[in-house]
Amino acid sequence: MRLEGKVALITGAANGIGYAAAEVFVKEGCHVALIDFDAEKGEAKVKSLNELGRGKAAFFQGDVADRSSVDSFAAKAKEHFGKIDILINNAGITRDGMLHKLSAENFQKVLDVNLTGVFNCTQAVLPYLIENGKGKIINTSSVSGVYGNVGQTNYAAAKAAVVGMTKTWAKELGRKGINVNAVAPGFTETGMVASVPENVIEGMKSMIPLGRLGKPEDIAKAYLYLASDDSDYVNGTVLHVDGGIMM
Ligand code: CAA
Ligand code: NAI
Repeated sequence: MRLEGKVALITGAANGIGYAAAEVFVKEGCHVALIDFDAEKGEAKVKSLNELGRGKAAFFQGDVADRSSVDSFAAKAKEHFGKIDILINNAGITRDGMLHKLSAENFQKVLDVNLTGVFNCTQAVLPYLIENGKGKIINTSSVSGVYGNVGQTNYAAAKAAVVGMTKTWAKELGRKGINVNAVAPGFTETGMVASVPENVIEGMKSMIPLGRLGKPEDIAKAYLYLASDDSDYVNGTVLHVDGGIMM
C-alpha cells in the first residue's frame, strides 16, 4: 500500500473528485479526514469508507472560506488522527457568467472559496506538516486557470492564482521537507460539470485527443502520485490531467 499509516486531510471530500480521492487513499492504507460543508453526504460516505477495512476515515464539517471554521476542523483532524501528513486543497465552486454579466458578488464568492480557501487551509495545516519534517501539499487548479475559459473570469482567476501560490510555497517550504504541487484537471464528470450546456461539453470533448471527459478517479490517481513517496523529488509542478485537451 502506497500511503500506509499516513494521514491526509482532503477538502471538498463529500462529493466528486474529493470523494474519489478519499476512497483511493483509504484503499492505500491512508487515514483520511474528509472536510466539506455537505454534512449529510460526508457522514454517509465516511461510513462506507470505514467498511472497506483499510485506512480509517472521519468527517469534519466546515467551510474553507471561513478562517475560524478552518482552524477548528484542522485542529480536530489533528487531534483525531494524531498527525497530518498530506493536505489536498480540493474544495471548489463555480459561479459562471460572461464578463459583462458577472456580478461582483459572484466574482468575490469564487475567489473566497477557490483562492482564499486554499490559503486558509494551508496556513492552518502547515504547522502540523512542519512538525513531521515531511509533508505533501496538493492544490487543485484547472485547465481553466491555465488556459482561460469562456464564462469563467472569476474561476480562471482563482485557479491561475492557485498555480502562483503553489510555486511560491514550493520555494518556501522545500527546505522544511514539504513538497507542494498542483493538479490541473480538465473537464471531469462530477456535479460541477452537470450544469454546463450540452453543446459546450460536446465542444470540449471534440478537443480531447483521448475522446472522453475525465473521471473523478483519473484525478484521484494524480493526487495519489503526488501524495506518495513516488513523487519525493517532484516540487512546484502543475500536473495536467486533462486527456491532452490543450497542447
Ligand atoms: N466558446 C465560444 N463561445 C462561447 C462559449 C465557448 N465555450 N460559450 C458560450 N459562447 C458564446 C455563445 O455561443 C454566445 O454567443 P452569441 O452571443 O454569438 O450567441 C455567447 O457566448 C453567450 O453565451 P450564452 O448565450 O450561453 O450566454 P449566457 O449568459 O446565457 O450564459 C454562460 C453564459 C453561463 C457562461 C454559459 O455559456 C455557460 O455555462 N458556459 C459554460 C461555461 C463553462 O465551460 N464552465 C465550466 C464549468 S466546469 C468547471 O469549471 C470545471 C473546470 O475546471 C473546467
Ligand atoms: P464537486 O462540486 O463535485 O465537489 C466539490 C465539493 O466541494 C462538494 O462536496 C462541495 O460541497 C465542497 N465545497 C464547496 N465549497 C466548499 C467550501 N467552501 N467548504 C467546504 N467544502 C466545499 O466538484 P469537483 O468536480 O469534484 O471539484 C473538485 C475540485 O476540482 C474543485 O477545486 C474544482 O474546481 C476542481 N476541478 C474540477 C473540474 C471538473 O471538471 N469537475 C475540472 C478542473 C478542476
